[in-house]
Order: sequence, then structure tokens, then C-alpha cells
Amino acid sequence: MKTRGEKQYINMPRFAAKLYDNLTGVKGVNKSFEEIAVFIGNSVKQGYLLDVGTGPGRLLLEIHKNNSLLDLYGLDISASMLDVAKQNLKAVKNVNLQVGNITGTDYPANFFDCIVTTGSFYNWDKPVEGLNEIFRILKQGKSAYIFDTYKEYDKSLLKARLKENLKDYSIIRKFLSKPFLKKQLSITYSITEYENIIRQSVFKENYTIHQIDLGNLPVWLRIELRKD
Ligand SMILES: C[S@@+](CC[C@H](N)C(=O)[O-])C[C@H]1O[C@@H](n2cnc3c(N)ncnc32)[C@H](O)[C@@H]1O
Repeated sequence: MKTRGEKQYINMPRFAAKLYDNLTGVKGVNKSFEEIAVFIGNSVKQGYLLDVGTGPGRLLLEIHKNNSLLDLYGLDISASMLDVAKQNLKAVKNVNLQVGNITGTDYPANFFDCIVTTGSFYNWDKPVEGLNEIFRILKQGKSAYIFDTYKEYDKSLLKARLKENLKDYSIIRKFLSKPFLKKQLSITYSITEYENIIRQSVFKENYTIHQIDLGNLPVWLRIELRKD
């Protein structure tokens, strides 16, 4: 089966994970994590929260800054990314990081009060299985949120917003910061494709999709999946 990116992440060398962390450490990306953390803070006040495909753990850090009462969990198929996450989260006590694939975890059923994933879903080789596992480990009555890019974004608006976001950075930084987003946007799903995937999962009757800006970039969807 052709991988959507999982294989590259599983084999990712440590220096590449460090580079990813460094290049995504720009203002616009940090701002998007701050915005997601505020949104999550409004929907869950205490309990267990899982970030799927946490990468360098920057979202977990923002969520912790916003609400230190939450017990945080981070899952990722890349051991190198989790090494970087460990560093970024070393000051946080209540965090549990685990290497694994969301298609089959060993978290107990009905365990999490909230599950979130940012910029990772488009990489999952088996997205329906991933969603079904999220359903299994999410508590009844709670929601999971996918924050991911989509195909039908406004290209000229994105160009203008990127220029604005990167205006204070060096030419090298500008040059290096765009490839990750470009790669993501080149393989991301359309809204119809997201819907086709969700409708094959157990969340088929219980989802909503919103087009949103994050970190000033007009390329994001927030998909809410409810376990009613
Ligand atoms: C583009 S990075 C995003 C990292 C972080 N969430 C962020 O927003 O910066 C995608 C991450 O998802 C992880 N990933 C991809 N497929 C996964 C899967 N099936 N289960 C768990 N993690 C996965 C990758 O290893 C990688 O760290």
C-alpha cells in the first residue's frame, strides 16, 4: 500500500525532527497552537486529553499553559518526534508520551475527555481505522477535534497572509518555512474526501466541519466528531 507519509515519519531521523520543530517554531504556527488551546480550554476543563500525532508536542505545551489541570497524553508513530516533544515538555509534570499508531492503541475504552489532532490526519494511511479507534477511547458524550488543511483554500489569500506572517524573518527562514505547508497542501483532502472518510467510520452521523483561519492562514478545517 502506498503510504501517505506514515513510513517517512516512522523512519524519521532525529535531526529531521529537530529541523521540523525549529521551522514550525515561527510566530504564525505558534499562534495557531495558542488559538487551538483556547478553543480546547473552552470545551474541556479537566480530565484526560490526547493529542494524536503530537509531533514536537507544541500543542500540548500551549494546552498546559492554558489549563494545567488537564492530564495530557501525546501519541505519535515517530520516536524521533517524541524525543523532541520530551524536551519541549520537560517542565510539564502531567504528560504521558507514547510511540504508536492511532489505528490500534492500548489506551482503555471510554478513557479520554477530549481528543485532538493537528496537521496529522492527512498522513494517516488508514484514516477510517484511526477514527474508529478514537471513538473507542473517547468517553461517551465527549468530542474529538481534527484540525487539518483542505484542498479548496483561497490560493491568493494564502500567498498574501504568508507574506504578512513571514515579513520579519530572514530570507533563509522564509525559504525554509514554506516547504512543509506546501507539501501538506499538496496531499491534503478536499472537504468531500473528508466527508467520505468520516461516513465510513462510526462517527458517520455525528460530525460537523467548519472552515477556519489558524495563525492568520485561511487553509484550515475544524472537524468535530461527537460520541453521543
Ligand atoms: C505534520 S506532523 C504534525 C505534528 C504536530 N501535530 C503539529 O501540528 O506540529 C504529523 C505528525 O503525525 C504523526 N503521525 C502520522 N500518522 C500517524 C498515525 N497514524 N498515528 C500517530 N501519529 C501519526 C507523524 O509522525 C508526525 O509527527
